[in-house]
Amino acid sequence: LAAAEHGLESVKRKLCRLVASSLSATVPGLDVEPMLEESKAGFGDYQCNNAMSLFSSLRGSSDANFQNPKLPKPQSNWAILNNLPPSDIVESTSVAGPGYVNIVISSDWIAQRIQHMLIYGIKTWAPTLPIKRAVVDFSSPNIAKEMHVGHLRSTIIGDTVARMFEFANIEVLRRNHVGDWGTQFGMLIEFLFEQFPNWEEVGNQAIGDLQSFYKASKEKFDNKESDFKVKAQQAVVRLQQGEERYRAAWKKICEISRNEFESVYKRLGVELEEKGESFYNPYILPVLEELTKKGLVTEDKGAQIILIEGQSALIVVKKDGGFNYASTDLAALWYRLNVEKAELIVYLTDVGQKLHFHKLFSAASMAGWLPDQNEYPKTSHVGFGLVLGLDGKRFRTRCTEVVRLVDLLDEAKSQCKAQLIERLTENGKIADWTNDELDRTSEAIGLGAVKYADLKNNRLTNYTFSFEKMLSDKGNTAVYLQYAHARICSIIEKASKDIDELTTKASITFIHADERALGLHIIRFQEVLEQACTDLFPHYLCDYLYSLSEAFSKFYTSCQVVGSPEETSRLLLCQATAVVMRQCFNFLGITPVYKL
Ligand code: ARG
Repeated sequence: LAAAEHGLESVKRKLCRLVASSLSATVPGLDVEPMLEESKAGFGDYQCNNAMSLFSSLRGSSDANFQNPKLPKPQSNWAILNNLPPSDIVESTSVAGPGYVNIVISSDWIAQRIQHMLIYGIKTWAPTLPIKRAVVDFSSPNIAKEMHVGHLRSTIIGDTVARMFEFANIEVLRRNHVGDWGTQFGMLIEFLFEQFPNWEEVGNQAIGDLQSFYKASKEKFDNKESDFKVKAQQAVVRLQQGEERYRAAWKKICEISRNEFESVYKRLGVELEEKGESFYNPYILPVLEELTKKGLVTEDKGAQIILIEGQSALIVVKKDGGFNYASTDLAALWYRLNVEKAELIVYLTDVGQKLHFHKLFSAASMAGWLPDQNEYPKTSHVGFGLVLGLDGKRFRTRCTEVVRLVDLLDEAKSQCKAQLIERLTENGKIADWTNDELDRTSEAIGLGAVKYADLKNNRLTNYTFSFEKMLSDKGNTAVYLQYAHARICSIIEKASKDIDELTTKASITFIHADERALGLHIIRFQEVLEQACTDLFPHYLCDYLYSLSEAFSKFYTSCQVVGSPEETSRLLLCQATAVVMRQCFNFLGITPVYKL
């Protein structure tokens, strides 16, 4: 149980340690990083690629064995192989050409590892990361402005990052850095006063849709003939000075917006704690004072700036004396480091803000807030590309400029429902389903499809939003994966065995190659997750999940489960696949479906 409590080391980490000790035995004193990857050629499970670079080091070695400059390249391969310490993970090793050493993992070891996970739970496969607390700054829409698909990306990717960290036993502060401050509020407040003279009594519903409210007030603001612009500018000042009426109006506008956002989060199953821009207001001045004392802030044409090497300066106080996005972000970063004591702070926004964050982090380093690159605390901007429509342009719907998130989710759900009903009717199964079941299942599949279609892409690239593609039951889609998972569940159900009892009593053995391949893939879960956490790329998980279901299909095609002599072992393998799939679904914020 000790291992269960502390978590296990991933296969790859274990192998890396073996290779590291072989490397230091092969060329003592030389500090070489193990180069280990999943085997491509198929001669082993993993391959060690150190030989090539080691070859040159060996030629210069004083060791008599390696002094011959005409030493054949395979020699360094053999040296690595021979120096590998004995281990129960390794079944066999071989040398393949000059390039690499193949390592075959022990089948018994794979089987035991899976069984251990089934007994003690998937949490034993939590990766070990070097930090205890992280801030994940995500979603972060702007009040009264639209919460567009870009914010959907931030919400979905951010939630996955947070979930992966939480699984890795990191305390995550999920922060919604809402744009609830800034000059647009002068305009909004003044418009509220005009449109609703008795605004204090008016219910939030009556003010209605804040997006149109924002639009209408902006039109008025831009109209040169009216004195509205001047009034709006004065309103900003009065709000910033803390005048009661203005603060109350600001609060009301924020509240309406907040309710709208909340409903989207609830629907998506995303938890977030709002600490909007306004929260950091009291910290801006002292933070800027500190930076000024450190000599970082200089004056430039009436504005206060921080010079950044190789980039344009970071403006921290505008010409009119007001603070901006950057001043707030400096204060927020200070707060997160010093008050919240976060060791890692990640920001999820579109790649368009890359420069802003680069400058922010540079300023923080110059201030001595952040240590050298390889030490914690660290900051990281997790950028993502645009969502494109089928026309290749920024995603919009016909009638409005922006796409309403809720409409998108509704559409996905209703298309899923239609598909599901058609399928069930064709199979004569529709009678087995209640309306409630149909509804919940389509919600789970529909929302999962939208999230997965986003997460499966390398986040840095743009992706095209297509209902047709994301709702297809073929290929790398959430719909396909849901079917795959439900099928595994039905296999297990068909056997009508007590799985918990089997888990402790029976054992897993691999007879067929496809069976072992599935087992190996299952135990790779941990290293894939570790890599996804390190590089902050959720699509690693999607790639893994999809190939896991492919490995399962292959296994299921070649190996009979129910009614075969290997039934118990194979059922356990089915169960392990389902457990790992569900854990991946969980990271991706997808609700698994058991019956389809
Ligand atoms: N509200 C900003 C936007 O919509 C995103 C905020 C991201 N977080 C931050 N700390 N700057 O673009």
